[in-house]
Amino acid sequence: MKALILAGGAGTRLRPITHTRAKQLVPVANKPILFYGIEAMVSAGITEIGVIVGDTREEVMAALGDGSAFGAAITYLPQDQPLGLAHCVLIARDFLGDDDFVMYLGDNLLEQDLAAFVDAFRTARAGDQPPDAQILLKQVPDPHRFGIAELDASGDVVRLVEKPADPPSDLALVGVYLFDAGIHEAVAAIEPSPRGELEITDAIQWLVDQGRRVRCELLTGWWIDTGKLTPLLEANRLILERIEPTIEGTVDEASVIDGRVHIGAGATITGSTIRGPVSIGPGAVIENAFIGPFSAIGARCRVVSSEIEHSVLMDDSSVIDVPRLEDSLIGSHAEVMRSRRKPRALRLMVGDHCQIDAE
Ligand code: TTP
Repeated sequence: MKALILAGGAGTRLRPITHTRAKQLVPVANKPILFYGIEAMVSAGITEIGVIVGDTREEVMAALGDGSAFGAAITYLPQDQPLGLAHCVLIARDFLGDDDFVMYLGDNLLEQDLAAFVDAFRTARAGDQPPDAQILLKQVPDPHRFGIAELDASGDVVRLVEKPADPPSDLALVGVYLFDAGIHEAVAAIEPSPRGELEITDAIQWLVDQGRRVRCELLTGWWIDTGKLTPLLEANRLILERIEPTIEGTVDEASVIDGRVHIGAGATITGSTIRGPVSIGPGAVIENAFIGPFSAIGARCRVVSSEIEHSVLMDDSSVIDVPRLEDSLIGSHAEVMRSRRKPRALRLMVGDHCQIDAE
């Protein structure tokens, strides 16, 4: 079995961050989102991985290399324009050959290990009624915001609908799909949707309409599509909740470290309180500051005389004299400074290399 990981796309919902970087490389708990997906594939036993890359291909290729650091072999598949998820399958035809494969959206994060889902597909494929596809579904409270599946009495998929006004169920499609080679016929047969993309939901619906079997599995752990700020911070929170507390940096006597906290090598904490879950990257400098729960401070960041909570600071950024920064995503090499007026909280999404003087 192979994997196809989608790391192209436009990332419009995470601008300005995505003006300068791939959204799949935004860090969550100080690790790029995409790494979690690659690791999930490898731990499910899949090491032959094709990665779809778009405008940000150089950055993605530099981050993943040939895949050997993950125990995988990566083949890059350039996509000239983000023409849809099914278009990614179309251009991956040669790489995939006639193998079964997992398609994984590179900006999605799942709590559960994927091995059980992959095994379930393998077992079903060896059975009496081999499916052509398997989708993962998650119960959601707001189904009108998602692609939703309608199932028959035996639990197979009969219909998929995108963001339905009148949802047939509360089962949303998670960004992990398993296919056999039949999907290539489907992606070749469908037409672009009104938004001009080849939709994977249309391709799966085509399989159903042709009488092919599409089975599903229910996800019980959390699943987050990180394409926007709020879910990205939520993913950061959920992953920080399970980090290993380790202190590799230096903490002075005037500082207090409380709860689940990781402090990277060479980081220095002086006169500060760090209340976990928090991850502080290597070489960061934290002075007279409060770093509150669910914050990830990137490598070589400087936080001085400031309070930060529930935020992500990317590498090499600094926050100086800010009374309170919360629910924020700060790009790399960005500077946020001096808001002395009132200890009113700032909530920001700041692009790479920006300077924000909040005075
Ligand atoms: P989306 O989040 O659906 O699309 P997008 O990246 O274009 O984002 P936005 O809507 O904010 O503009 O894509 C899901 C994943 O698939 C994501 O990792 C990007 C990737 N992708 C491709 O690689 N090629 C494509 O043609 C599309 C549409 C997405």
